Amino acid sequence: MFGLFSEIIQAKMFNFILLSVLVIVAVFADAASTAKPGCQSNCGDLTVTYPFGIGIGTNCSISSWYDINCNTTFNPPKPFLATTNHEIIDISNEEIRIKNSVAARCYTETGNVTRENHITVDLAVTPYSFSEKNKFTVVGCDDLAVIIGFSFSGRNFTSGCLSVCSDTKDMNDGFCTGIGCCQTPIPKGLKTFASALNSLDDHKMVWPFNPCGYAFVGDQDVFQFRTSDLTNQSFQNKTIENVPIVIDWAIGNLSCSEAMKSDEFACFQNSVCVDSDTGLGGYRCNCSTGYEGNPYLSPGCTDFHALEHLCPSHFFSNNPCDENGICTNTPGSFTCSCKHGYTGNGTKEGRGCIAKNSQFPVIKFSLGFSMVFVSIIIAMAWLYFSVKRRKLVRMREQFFHQNGGLLLKQQISSNEGGVESTKIFSAEELEKATNKYAEDRILGRGGYGTVYKGILSDDRVVAIKKSRIMDQNQIEQFINEVIILTQVNHRNVVKLLGCCLEAEVPLLVYEFVSNGTLYHHIHNNGEMPWFSWENRLKIAAEAAGALSYLHSAATMPIIHRDVKSSNILLDELYTAKISDFGASRLVPLDQTQVTTLVQGTLGYLDPEYFHTSQLTEKSDVYSFGVVLAELMTGKKPLSPTKSEEERNLTTYFIMSIKENRFFRILEPRILREGSLEQLQAVGELIERCLNLKSNERPTMKEVAMELERLRKYTKHPWNQQGNVEENMALLSEQSDLYDITITGQELTTEMYSEQGSLCSHMIYPSNNPR
Ligand SMILES: *[C@@H]1O[C@H](CO)[C@@H](O)[C@H](O)[C@H]1NC(C)=O
Ligand SMILES: *[C@@H]1O[C@H](CO)[C@@H](O)[C@H](O)[C@H]1NC(C)=O
Ligand SMILES: *[C@@H]1O[C@H](CO)[C@@H](O)[C@H](O)[C@H]1NC(C)=O
Ligand SMILES: *[C@@H]1O[C@H](CO)[C@@H](O)[C@H](O)[C@H]1NC(C)=O
Ligand SMILES: *[C@@H]1O[C@H](CO)[C@@H](O)[C@H](O)[C@H]1NC(C)=O
Ligand SMILES: *[C@@H]1O[C@H](CO)[C@@H](O)[C@H](O)[C@H]1NC(C)=O
Ligand SMILES: *[C@@H]1O[C@H](CO)[C@@H](O)[C@H](O)[C@H]1NC(C)=O
Ligand SMILES: *[C@@H]1O[C@H](CO)[C@@H](O)[C@H](O)[C@H]1NC(C)=O
Ligand SMILES: *[C@@H]1O[C@H](CO)[C@@H](O)[C@H](O)[C@H]1NC(C)=O
Repeated sequence: MFGLFSEIIQAKMFNFILLSVLVIVAVFADAASTAKPGCQSNCGDLTVTYPFGIGIGTNCSISSWYDINCNTTFNPPKPFLATTNHEIIDISNEEIRIKNSVAARCYTETGNVTRENHITVDLAVTPYSFSEKNKFTVVGCDDLAVIIGFSFSGRNFTSGCLSVCSDTKDMNDGFCTGIGCCQTPIPKGLKTFASALNSLDDHKMVWPFNPCGYAFVGDQDVFQFRTSDLTNQSFQNKTIENVPIVIDWAIGNLSCSEAMKSDEFACFQNSVCVDSDTGLGGYRCNCSTGYEGNPYLSPGCTDFHALEHLCPSHFFSNNPCDENGICTNTPGSFTCSCKHGYTGNGTKEGRGCIAKNSQFPVIKFSLGFSMVFVSIIIAMAWLYFSVKRRKLVRMREQFFHQNGGLLLKQQISSNEGGVESTKIFSAEELEKATNKYAEDRILGRGGYGTVYKGILSDDRVVAIKKSRIMDQNQIEQFINEVIILTQVNHRNVVKLLGCCLEAEVPLLVYEFVSNGTLYHHIHNNGEMPWFSWENRLKIAAEAAGALSYLHSAATMPIIHRDVKSSNILLDELYTAKISDFGASRLVPLDQTQVTTLVQGTLGYLDPEYFHTSQLTEKSDVYSFGVVLAELMTGKKPLSPTKSEEERNLTTYFIMSIKENRFFRILEPRILREGSLEQLQAVGELIERCLNLKSNERPTMKEVAMELERLRKYTKHPWNQQGNVEENMALLSEQSDLYDITITGQELTTEMYSEQGSLCSHMIYPSNNPR
């Protein structure tokens, strides 16, 4: 392992060193290539770049002002500015450094001057000027120096500096503060200056430690004052050698904007023009950021970084070469090679780089590796399962919240007694009951979900409805419906046993109703003995009673909204049970109608509701009318394959009544078993239910009572005798009685049956079957 690491580190080091070398080479190559092609680029230690050029009149520079005279009589050769003959120390993008001149004045012990020289440096008419980086400096203990300058802006410049001292003890190395050393700035754009020294007392007092005074203009960053400079006779030569004068240079005396209009603009592409800040005009060129090269030479600056991108500087990342390979930049491209100890052509496409000596401890390595691998797998599996388990628990909690579990719990706890029989089932419990929602447990699929048969742990058989994904906004509504349904305790309404909110969608648990749907029994071709007229009437009356109860008796009226034969279930004793309240709506007591999205089943849908979206109890009445028609005729509400007039059961039914062929469309068995009056009454009832104007339809209460009345009527022996006149008379009598006794009263199942029996009793005192 350690071997591997050190190898990687070695590889990185090797890469790094290689890269550094490349960069350095690149920089040198870059600098070397910026003299004008075909021109000498070096003079002694100085590298000359265009616009400067070596040679006089050789066209190597941009103009004669930038010619450099390389005097080869010296060894090594020395460069001089050709026009002013100043020896050049260095040339940068903005400045030239030239060899200095130092004024000196030396005295005898008695004050006679032994040696004196003045200095004059003249850059007039050149495109150069003295830089602000210079300072006029006087060194001495009894010295006064004056500088007189001249700038091309037309102003004369005069300044001076006085340096006095009495003892070297007063001075500090590195500080030029007027004691033994004095400095004063010079203005930008100074073109020429002259300086001379003088003395106050001819050094008589300070002669033992300071025989000479000096004055010069030079780079303030380079000159460092030493106390020994006052004594040392070689100070003058030392300063000339070491402290250069800094000169600002520029091209011509035009500004950038002026020069750009002229033919001789010096800056090539990918460069910016920079105005000289000396106040004398002139400009310089600079490569734009990201570009390198010589902006004064055609074609201009080039994108050095474009080249660099071919080989990324971060090792191992985005490397176009094999991971054991080395990427090397070449102009405009790159090459791959293999690092030390590897062989191959280095590219990813090829076989890459393969270790030369593969004496690798294969067995040991693979054994260790596989053990590590196996333990990692185990750890990961363990982690995976624990994370998954926790996620599942958290998900169930989230669903419980999402599905309004808290709300329901709150309702249950605040609503003692009402929903005490409602249970909140756990997701696990229901999963077990339905054998993980197995296909063979599906009882049916509806618009609002799938219903499964479930067997609870206490062997109770239940129906479990898995709703479709619910909209968050419907949750409160859903909870309310659950609450209401648990409060609805009617023998003809499917009982809600509980619900489960831990699953992604709410699950509802209902009592299991074993004998299928009414729809199934009506449209099953086989003739079933039990499905007699009497039983049909019983089922219809029960269903109507339940709907009537929902409309009027519950705490808040409930409109079923999806009354149809397939939502009427039958138990083992063929008792009707209304089911599927998925679309049901609660109607607040102070409202008689609510506006909703139209929902329901085609063929059963109230046309008025369909057009106005105004949902009232009468919509259920209409749908129930369709169910009754279905029950009487054995025809489906919509039969697309039949002739146009028979296609829609409601229109067909109404037409038949209008055209007096009502009896022709009834099922033969009904025609056989039902009395003329009964069938006529049911027909009329259906006609009223299917009235297009909802306010002309009977209420569910009226429908239920009528059906119950007709039912009692069947059981009456008179019926069998077919005494029509008497029956008709009794019928009208009964209607009146209903009007008197029932109107305006709240109706419960119990009351309802009491009422029914009361009526029968009153009408048929001696023949009541109960
Ligand atoms: C320099 O250039 C000028 C004009 O472009 C030309 O006349 C002259 O001969 C050139 N001198 C040399 C030494 O090439
Ligand atoms: C080189 O320098 C020497 C000594 O300063 C001088 O005599 C000579 O003329 C110079 N040569 C050129 C080409 O300037
Ligand atoms: C110094 O100067 C004075 C007058 O200025 C002169 O008389 C004297 O001879 C000089 N001494 C020397 C050593 O030159
Ligand atoms: C600057 O000095 C020179 C010589 O000392 C003089 O001739 C010139 O008039 C002066 N210019 C100004 C503007 O003072
Ligand atoms: C004077 O300066 C020179 C050059 O820096 C140096 O070698 C020499 O020792 C100095 N002499 C004294 C007395 O400081
Ligand atoms: C300074 O340099 C000049 C010539 O460059 C030489 O003659 C003189 O002796 C030097 N002075 C000292 C003190 O080294
Ligand atoms: C600029 O320089 C040219 C010569 O290169 C000269 O004729 C002209 O007078 C100068 N202009 C200024 C404002 O210095
Ligand atoms: C040229 O650009 C560099 C950086 O891009 C900057 O540091 C330098 O000062 C510029 N030179 C001039 C003359 O503007
Ligand atoms: C390396 O080998 C591959 C496949 O053998 C080849 O496609 C690729 O051109 C080779 N590269 C070099 C630089 O030789």
